[in-house]
Amino acid sequence: MPTNFRNRDILSISEFSKADILKVLEHAQRLKAARRPTLLQGQVLGSCFFEPSTRTRLSFESAMQHLGGGVIGFADPNATSTKKGETLYDTIKIVSGYADVITIRHYLEGAARRAAEASDKPIINCGDGANQHPTQTLIDLFTIAECQKKLNRLNVALVGDLKYGRTVHSLAQALVHFNATLYLVAPDALQLPTQASRELREQGVRFSCHRTIEEVIAKVDILYLTRIQEERFGDPLDYERVKNAFVLSNKQLGRARPNLRILHPLPRVHELLPEVDATPYAQYFEQAHNGLFVREALLGLVLGKLK
Ligand code: CP
Repeated sequence: MPTNFRNRDILSISEFSKADILKVLEHAQRLKAARRPTLLQGQVLGSCFFEPSTRTRLSFESAMQHLGGGVIGFADPNATSTKKGETLYDTIKIVSGYADVITIRHYLEGAARRAAEASDKPIINCGDGANQHPTQTLIDLFTIAECQKKLNRLNVALVGDLKYGRTVHSLAQALVHFNATLYLVAPDALQLPTQASRELREQGVRFSCHRTIEEVIAKVDILYLTRIQEERFGDPLDYERVKNAFVLSNKQLGRARPNLRILHPLPRVHELLPEVDATPYAQYFEQAHNGLFVREALLGLVLGKLK
C-alpha cells in the first residue's frame, strides 16, 4: 500500500516504498496525457535555491504554474537575508508562513532535513550537497519506464562521478525495488562510496565495478551518464586528473543494444558529446521534459489534491 503523501516531506528516495514510487509515476503519466490547469489554484510554492539550478527550479516553478498555483522564492541566496547572517532554520520558518509547500536546494548534506524541522509545510529536497536528489530519481524512473516499457530486471550502467553525484546515490537506492543489475563505471577515485555499495550488497543487488564504458556498452539497457562534480572537489588538481575520464561519442555506441537509451540528469560538461544527441539512444532531453510532469504529480500529492 502506498503511503499517504498529504503534507509529507520528500527528503530521500530511501523513504519511498515501491508502491510510493509507482503511485508518483502513475500520476505523472496521467498529467503528461492530460493537463489539470486548476488543480492547485490558490496554492503557493516557496522556491528556495541556495545552489544553482536550471531544470529542477524551473520545472518545479513551471509545474506549480501549470496547475494554477503561484510561486515565490529566490534563486540567489545573496539577494536574501542569508547574506546578513540569517540561519537556514529561520529563513525556512519564515517562508513556511508565506507558502504551502517549499522546494529547497542547498550545498550542505542534511540541509533539507534541517529545513523540514523548521517548517510545518511539506519540504521537497531538490538536492542537498552530495547526498540525495529524490525528485530527479523519480524522473529517471519515469523516463526509464517510458522508454523501456518496463522497470523490472533491467541492466543499468551508472557512469561518471559515483562518489559525489547525488543523482546516482538516489537512483541506485531506488533500483533496489526493481531487480536491476548495476554496472558501476567510474575511475577508482570516484567509485560509489563504501557505505552505499555495502547497502546495495546487503539488499541483494547484483552489481560490478568497471573503469570503461567499452566494458559494459554491449550489456546494458540504460546508460546513466553523470557529470564530474567539480564544485565538490577539495583540491582542484584532483578534479583535473579525472575531469575527462569519460567522453561518450558515437564511436563508443557501435556495440550498443538496439533498445539502449542514454540518460543524463544534466547539465553536461565534457562527458557527453553533442553528436550523440542525434542518435536514437539519446533520451536525456525527454528526461528533462518529464521533470515537469513528475514534479506536478509530487506537488499535487503533498498538497493533498491527488490521491
Ligand atoms: N538535473 C538537475 O538537477 O539539473 P539542475 O542542476 O539544472 O537543476
